[in-house]
Amino acid sequence: MAVPGITEAQIEAALQPFGMSRTLPAAAYISDDVLEWERKHFFAGGWTCVGRASDVAEDSYTAVTAGNDSLVLSREPVGHLKAFFNVCRHRGHELLPCGSSAAGKVIKCPYHGWTYGLDGSLKGAPHFSDQPDFDVADFPLTEARTHEWGGWVFVNVSGNAPEFDRYLGSLSDTIAPYRAERLVIAARDEYVVKSNWKSIIENYHECYHCNHIHPELVQVSSPDSGRTWYPDGAWAGGDMELLDGMHTMSMDGQTGASKMLPGLEGKQLRDVLYFELFPNLLISPHPDYILTHRFEPLEPGFTKVECHWLFDPEEVARDGFDPYYAVDFWDITNKQDWSATEGVQRGMNSKGYTPGPLSSVEETVYQAIYLVASGYKHGRINLEDLAKPSEILARPDK
Ligand code: FES
Ligand SMILES: [Fe+2]
Repeated sequence: MAVPGITEAQIEAALQPFGMSRTLPAAAYISDDVLEWERKHFFAGGWTCVGRASDVAEDSYTAVTAGNDSLVLSREPVGHLKAFFNVCRHRGHELLPCGSSAAGKVIKCPYHGWTYGLDGSLKGAPHFSDQPDFDVADFPLTEARTHEWGGWVFVNVSGNAPEFDRYLGSLSDTIAPYRAERLVIAARDEYVVKSNWKSIIENYHECYHCNHIHPELVQVSSPDSGRTWYPDGAWAGGDMELLDGMHTMSMDGQTGASKMLPGLEGKQLRDVLYFELFPNLLISPHPDYILTHRFEPLEPGFTKVECHWLFDPEEVARDGFDPYYAVDFWDITNKQDWSATEGVQRGMNSKGYTPGPLSSVEETVYQAIYLVASGYKHGRINLEDLAKPSEILARPDK
């Protein structure tokens, strides 16, 4: 299950205990073959997030990319959301271009006009009534594994990822107090970043860089307050504290909401959480909103990043509500981060690049790299081989 262009020794170097490990080799960031491998084994082989469930309206369908494949998501008026491979059962035409949506109760193939219900059943096949053995029941759309959690939709194209609950582990309990499933998208933004998808994740997991590139962020949250949590699922992450007098991540540390998210208490009102659900969703719960980043790798050095700001529906319905206190802060911070990861991407193309060491404040980066390197080693996300707490550097309270 070798990864093209990456040696066993390079993988083992990334899997050494924290404090002794090295980062990934350049091929992991710049090689077309590696990205193709990752699309198949990580994005199609794991649970990839394809968006918010609320974006698939009743009586509609939408085509999304998932790893090295394309799926149609559909929802009947009282039905669950379903995912089907985006291919007609007649002669294989794609049903809908990726990224597009359509309203209506039937999915019609543009080639010869076969029509399917939103439950995937074949409803009509012109010029087949004269074939005595032809039965529409034999040609439904092929269903893919799908799961809704927290209002997000996940798909597993390969069909053999671990059960979703096992994949998620205790991240479910961590996010539960924020009741993400009832939050609504108050603002969205999209970026194309000129860097590899993994560099964006690695950058997200440390504040070692904050004093250097985020003058606004360090006014509201201390770069030294980050703590790493130890994964029991396909995730990595931790928390950071707000500074005294600060209540959320915004330019002045104040909230523009009339109240914090319902049900939060104690430390939940003083912390911002930063979690990656492998391979492509970053979930950042704040006391008054959740920010998410969802990735689609376009090329080794190009990644589409979709950001959502999720708020309480009552807040969004309030007269005068404006989410831009949160959006503006993170748009500035995002762009500072993209500038850093794009600099890394340029460096990765240098003949002089070799995998480097990680500092004591980059343990979550270590865990994120470990997930990838362990995946390279096993040919899939292996929940039996996750990063272990460092004996030397483990914090006593985690
Ligand atoms: S390929 Fe779809 S109707 Fe022929
Ligand atoms: Fe940053």
